[in-house]
Amino acid sequence: MYEQVSHTLLNEILNQIKPEISRQDLRHFYTRLGANFYGIYSLFEKLYGQRDDFDAQAQKLVETMARKYIKRSDKLKQLDIDREKDYNWFLSPKWVGMALYSDGFSGDLNGLKSRLSYFQELGVNLLHIMPILRCPQGASDGGYAVSDFRQIDSRIGTLEDLHHLSEEMQDREILLTLDIVLNHTSDEHEWAKKARMGDPVYQDYYYIFKNRNVPEMFESSMPEIFPETAPGNFTWDNEMGQWVMTVFHNYQWDLNYTNPAVFIEMLDIILFWANQGADILRLDAVAFLWKKIGSVCQNEREAHLILQLLKDCCQVTCPGVLFIAEAIVAPVEVIKYFGEDAIIAKECEIAYNATFMALMWDAVATKNAKLLTQGIKSLPVKLDRATWLNYIRCHDDIGLGFDDLDIALAGYDPANHRKFILDYFTGTYQESHARGIPFGQNDKTGDARISGSLASLIGLQYAVELGDEEAIDNAIQSILLLHSLICSFGGLPLLYYGDEIGTMNDTNYLNEPEKQNDSRWAHRPTIDWEKAERRHIPGTVEFKLFSAIKRMIAIRKEIDVFADFNNRELIDSDNPHLFIFGRYNIVKPTEQVLVIANFDLKPQALDMQDVQEWARGHRGDLVDLYSGQQPDIYDNTLVIPPLTFYWLQEI
Ligand code: GLC
Repeated sequence: MYEQVSHTLLNEILNQIKPEISRQDLRHFYTRLGANFYGIYSLFEKLYGQRDDFDAQAQKLVETMARKYIKRSDKLKQLDIDREKDYNWFLSPKWVGMALYSDGFSGDLNGLKSRLSYFQELGVNLLHIMPILRCPQGASDGGYAVSDFRQIDSRIGTLEDLHHLSEEMQDREILLTLDIVLNHTSDEHEWAKKARMGDPVYQDYYYIFKNRNVPEMFESSMPEIFPETAPGNFTWDNEMGQWVMTVFHNYQWDLNYTNPAVFIEMLDIILFWANQGADILRLDAVAFLWKKIGSVCQNEREAHLILQLLKDCCQVTCPGVLFIAEAIVAPVEVIKYFGEDAIIAKECEIAYNATFMALMWDAVATKNAKLLTQGIKSLPVKLDRATWLNYIRCHDDIGLGFDDLDIALAGYDPANHRKFILDYFTGTYQESHARGIPFGQNDKTGDARISGSLASLIGLQYAVELGDEEAIDNAIQSILLLHSLICSFGGLPLLYYGDEIGTMNDTNYLNEPEKQNDSRWAHRPTIDWEKAERRHIPGTVEFKLFSAIKRMIAIRKEIDVFADFNNRELIDSDNPHLFIFGRYNIVKPTEQVLVIANFDLKPQALDMQDVQEWARGHRGDLVDLYSGQQPDIYDNTLVIPPLTFYWLQEI
């Protein structure tokens, strides 16, 4: 869009641009800058326009983008152009991801490189390698307390190792996802150290206060994120003799985005990792980026403006790179992280579908899909060119982030129901086989979350310990049922490392002082490669899981209607144990797949009348695309075996 004020400023910026920049071939850069500048200017002005140094900061912003464009390799520049042309590339069902800690998976980055064929064997072609940046030995929050944003933790490898890994991944067509911890730094980061020494420039990078007055104003409306280990939202720093905002742990200092220098630093870091070959950047804790007295300091409008501005700037320098929003917030809020536009994602193209994740766990505990169906009904429709990241487990705890209203509509009392789910997964409910561990218990609010690996939460650990074959089979079926949903729901399925072979809770964290109070370490495993080898031995748990998930992935990739074009229709039936939705081709609606999941331990019946409308009158025979079998239909009633899913298509 041509707009005079912003373009006058752009011309002034370009006139003053340093000769070492203007001498370069910047044709594509300038085209994109011109196309995006109105947006960039408007956002930058909205956030920082009141400052005296606004023009100088705007100059710096453009130069930062230009410098990083110059450093971007020709290969990556070509990839940008290819992806601009094929702009829906990431909505294809061909992508299946896995998140992993490289040290836990394979020791280090070189180890990971030597194990890339494992992912290809399974069909995984997108890796989210959990934080790899330099962080303190103990106080690291699993890598999310970064002390140097441009260096790799020496225990994991070097920049060169990452370079080799990313080249090898590109050759094998595996996408690389890296974390950008936008919201905070470690207190051992150089900026924090300088702030601590009294440097006002760097004190301005954080929220630092001489006394408790302002902190108390903030805290009166801010929730606590880690109430057990890090109560409150501010920490007294003895050396500095001041209070610093620390929303997460006391060693994670929140960055102050009211300062444009912080914004430009973090943009530079994002572009740095884009240039290292990352295809996707996972933006950590994005809901927290803006703090305002009197608010919960999450999901603030300015947090969205910052993300929009980051996206616009990346569209100029590295348009092929996608963002994942890690915003574990209420459904009506999470949807906003795609950006509020008619069609295109203006903030992050991908967002964690924490609602779906928590709802699936609810269905596991209740053995019915009442709340799951209700919760998905309330999930707002997302933009067309944006997609969900669907997952069952990740490195974090499970929060029961669904709505009280939905719980009530599903027929439960919200408080009792939440308590039941927590009791169920932490094993205090008598009939439960789950081996979860409470996390983040807040005695003031009664809130709590759940840690534990998929296998332990679903009852596989219990069943194996008891040698109960039937319970083992049920646990395996449940694990596959959940995977079938993330593979078919619409969006990018993100598996969690170890789940494909039934990895159980790892209690070693209890012996390490820095970890023992954080139960999330129970599900950040070190892969047992002898166990993984059993995936080749028929009859073993590992074989049953790995081969079934592998098959599921291979089939997903062949089902065109599993591409994510908002082409899902939720179906209500009279049977509460069933979760049912249809996927269809938006251009050819008769091309459709009906997904049915039975969460119960008994076979369940579906009156075909309930799905007739969706099937638009077709009455051909049905086949399950996963098993290749025709399901049992008796007297116009479809029977779904216990803990079973169907991907049904008409033949
Ligand atoms: C994100 C990470 C989590 C971390 C937090 C603070 O939510 O997923 O592991 O503790 O951010 O960085």
